[in-house]
Amino acid sequence: MRKQTVRKAVYPAAGLGTRFLPATKAMPKEMLPLVDKPLIQYAVEEAVDSGIEHIIIITGRGKSAIEDHFDVSFELESLLEEKHAGERLTVVRDISEMADVAYVRQKKALGLGHAVLRAKDLVGREPFAVVLADDVIASSVPCLKQLITVYEQQQASVIALMEVPKDRISAYGVVDAEAVNGSPGVFRIKRLVEKPKADAAPSNLAIIGRYVLAPEIFETIERTGPGANGEIQLTDALNNLLEQKPVYGLKFEGTRYDAGDKLGFLKATVEFALMREDLGNEFRSYLQSLHLA
Ligand code: UTP
Repeated sequence: MRKQTVRKAVYPAAGLGTRFLPATKAMPKEMLPLVDKPLIQYAVEEAVDSGIEHIIIITGRGKSAIEDHFDVSFELESLLEEKHAGERLTVVRDISEMADVAYVRQKKALGLGHAVLRAKDLVGREPFAVVLADDVIASSVPCLKQLITVYEQQQASVIALMEVPKDRISAYGVVDAEAVNGSPGVFRIKRLVEKPKADAAPSNLAIIGRYVLAPEIFETIERTGPGANGEIQLTDALNNLLEQKPVYGLKFEGTRYDAGDKLGFLKATVEFALMREDLGNEFRSYLQSLHLA
């Protein structure tokens, strides 16, 4: 079989972001900034740093700020040029030059699986990544790159996994899986369970928002009916895919923040600010001055 590389990444961004209201009433969740950069930009940078060439963003109503963000802004660029603000100009230009971005609309938020299916024509018959921008990951090797490496070894779909304590597991999709001998962190998945009760969870390994998928997933989603919340779930489609083809999981190296949730967003903001060369020291001193009990 000819080995295929992963060139395209799909960003489902058509959800309503109800956990972050009222901020997300008129603004896409994906545009919430961590320090000074929107979540979606962190996620696109991760893909570009992983060798991805084509970005496909699934948008919905009220999401035009995402398209404007990755577009050229003539007014802003000429203003910064006039002001000789070279560094800021580079920051702005780099965003529009970062990658080739295409957009597809999902007219109704019918679920994550349905959103991914909207990319079928643009992806074609090749493996592709799926990235949920509100899962922000800090790692030395980009999480997507870690998954692509496993995809290239196994030539089969791979999803990112994270250990979650028992009292939090019911908020996630959880896998029943067995470790692959000789490949540290890699698991062969037997079954996926969406949001199980703690006692019924098949493991402590939860699915997070990074996937590398074989193109057969599209036909599988087409055959998948509505599941939890009446939505077409990617997890259900993956369970169907498992019956035809192997699916692997990777316990990736790095820290994931759920920035689509208020507390997760606050934690990510603090940690990303502390990591910044230009702000970290001053921000650390400020936090220390709070003398929290
Ligand atoms: P979430 O479960 O986080 O849903 O979706 P949400 O609507 O964005 O946010 P809450 O839960 O109401 O606060 C996971 C990802 O799938 C996308 C979302 O944009 C998010 O990136 N999604 C979800 C779609 O693109 N379309 C859908 O129909 C559902």
